[in-house]
Amino acid sequence: MLRILYSLPVFIAATVFGSNAVTAQQVGQDLYQIQCVACHGKEAEGNTMLNAPALAGQQAAYTARQLKNYKMGLRGIDERDNIGRQMAAFATALDDESRTLLAGYLSELPRKAPQPVAGDLNHGEKYYQAYCGSCHGPDAGGNEMLNSPDLRGLDASYLKRQYQNFLNGVRGAHADDKYGRQMALISSGLKDPDTVDAVIAYIISIQ
Ligand code: HEC
Ligand code: HEC
Repeated sequence: MLRILYSLPVFIAATVFGSNAVTAQQVGQDLYQIQCVACHGKEAEGNTMLNAPALAGQQAAYTARQLKNYKMGLRGIDERDNIGRQMAAFATALDDESRTLLAGYLSELPRKAPQPVAGDLNHGEKYYQAYCGSCHGPDAGGNEMLNSPDLRGLDASYLKRQYQNFLNGVRGAHADDKYGRQMALISSGLKDPDTVDAVIAYIISIQ
């Protein structure tokens, strides 16, 4: 009897939470399939022809923050940022709840390894492990505690463009963009284009 009394609420809680989780994933998926799939791909694997990055497997908090940044004019606002502005247009209609649902759904999707690119991997490794790995992790898997995104799954052209954006003040320049500003500051310590290419080739090679 005692066992039944104890187990019933646990069972109900598990059922309710279980079905909520499924529903949230489904709503996130529906939102994604309607509003995002055309550019970011069926499995959120990205589309390099459209400059749209992979979103699969990224930390939910990071994805939600970027969607908010686009909406609030912290990202994709610079007049030089034609590509970011394309994305910003699709973030304007999203509210907090849809951002959370989309980001949660995307974070659960399996990541795909991007196309490898040529580069000096030894040089890239040394530089990455000395200057980037402390925040983005030794395996480039990111660090949520440091608000540093997962860099795996992202293609070379997207990684390079974002890096240049930070370096040129196109991204991470707004006073309210706390985390973007951190990355912009870091980028100012590495400007040499060959080393940037080597670091990116290395990031892609370790996935
Ligand atoms: C018209 C094509 C298009 C549509 C539709 C679109 N995006 Fe994008 N998205 C892009 C492009 C292009 C970029 C890269 C922008 C840049 O370089 O700053 C991007 C960037 C992003 C980023 C930043 C990723 C990162 O790693 O920082 C997120 C998050 C994102 N999109 C989510 C979404 C979601 C969610 C939807 C649907 C509500 C959506 N996008 C709809 C084209 C699109
Ligand atoms: C002090 C911690 C820190 C270090 C060190 C650091 N980053 Fe970052 N990086 C961040 C944060 C935080 C963000 C997220 C910024 C935002 O929210 O817009 C970021 C974002 C990025 C992005 C954008 C990813 C995306 O999906 O759009 C790239 C690319 C990147 N970093 C590359 C690098 C490289 C390459 C290095 C080494 C040269 C490096 N980072 C070193 C903290 C760091």
